[in-house]
Amino acid sequence: MDLYTNKTILITGGTSGLGLELVKSFLDKGNTVIATGRRELELKSYEGKFHLYRVDFSDLKETASVTKTICDNFSLDIVVNNAGILSPKEFTLTKNGFEYTYQVNYLAQHLVDEIIIKKHDPGKPLIISAVTSPVYKIAARDLNYARDKTNYNRTRAYSDSKLFQVLMCSHLSLKYKEQNMTFFSFLPGVFSSRIYRMQPKLFHALYHLAAPFMKDPVKVAAELRGLLTQSNIVTGAVYNGKMHQKDLPDIDEDLLSSFWRESYSIINQFL
Ligand SMILES: NC(=O)c1ccc[n+]([C@@H]2O[C@H](COP(=O)([O-])OP(=O)(O)OC[C@H]3O[C@@H](n4cnc5c(N)ncnc54)[C@H](OP(=O)(O)O)[C@@H]3O)[C@@H](O)[C@H]2O)c1
Repeated sequence: MDLYTNKTILITGGTSGLGLELVKSFLDKGNTVIATGRRELELKSYEGKFHLYRVDFSDLKETASVTKTICDNFSLDIVVNNAGILSPKEFTLTKNGFEYTYQVNYLAQHLVDEIIIKKHDPGKPLIISAVTSPVYKIAARDLNYARDKTNYNRTRAYSDSKLFQVLMCSHLSLKYKEQNMTFFSFLPGVFSSRIYRMQPKLFHALYHLAAPFMKDPVKVAAELRGLLTQSNIVTGAVYNGKMHQKDLPDIDEDLLSSFWRESYSIINQFL
């Protein structure tokens, strides 16, 4: 039996790359799919089953408002936190005054998840996954993400944001352990997409040369879909394909506590 028939699934960043492949594959199985993104996207053959909500994660007020509307209109079974960017070359601030990657790749997604959990029927199962990256392993353990121009490094900003996603899934699994909810992070490997968009022109050219040697996003979408059908997911864990990775980063407890305090001092303003 396909566990995914007639489920209601939210995919953030569903307008391109992996997100778009996930959208199409879940629709093909007869589910209702809600995608978010900044761009317009029409999928005419799935009318009635596909719903696009346009939202820019660099604006937390808009992110919260759109997420609340989605929750008012749909009762979700699955959430895939997939929206993401490669960090811009130059230090860039969001509308809310945070470093761009930190907000789009992590903070806005944590806000989305908390709103969904708050509005979710407590008796109903919910799976929340996040598309992270292997680079989370090279992120520094001081959780000192790029806060200002002087210490900005785009590789660091990206790897930090991917570590924060992993920590978020682990943190939510403990915070909501009494509820019928499962959280996990997913490592997709390197696949071809449009993630190079915010990068300099030379990067675009190099990316196009390398793209044929990267994984096909259709295959990556199938891997994640397969994972979501498993009934024995270890909540809070990181998954590589079907494998559960045991090496959750070891972070100092005090640093973690102050990281969550800071995150919630922002998130709570928009709940
Ligand atoms: N490609 C890889 O090799 C690779 C490897 C490891 C991890 N990942 C992760 O996989 C995920 C999907 O990336 P992809 O490679 O498929 O890239 P992609 O083709 O660029 O897709 C990214 C998606 O995120 C959305 N997005 C970007 N900025 C946004 C913003 N400010 N507000 C709202 N939505 C925004 C985009 O929608 P709009 O443009 O419509 O806003 C798009 O739908 C990302 O989290 C990425 O970090 C990718």
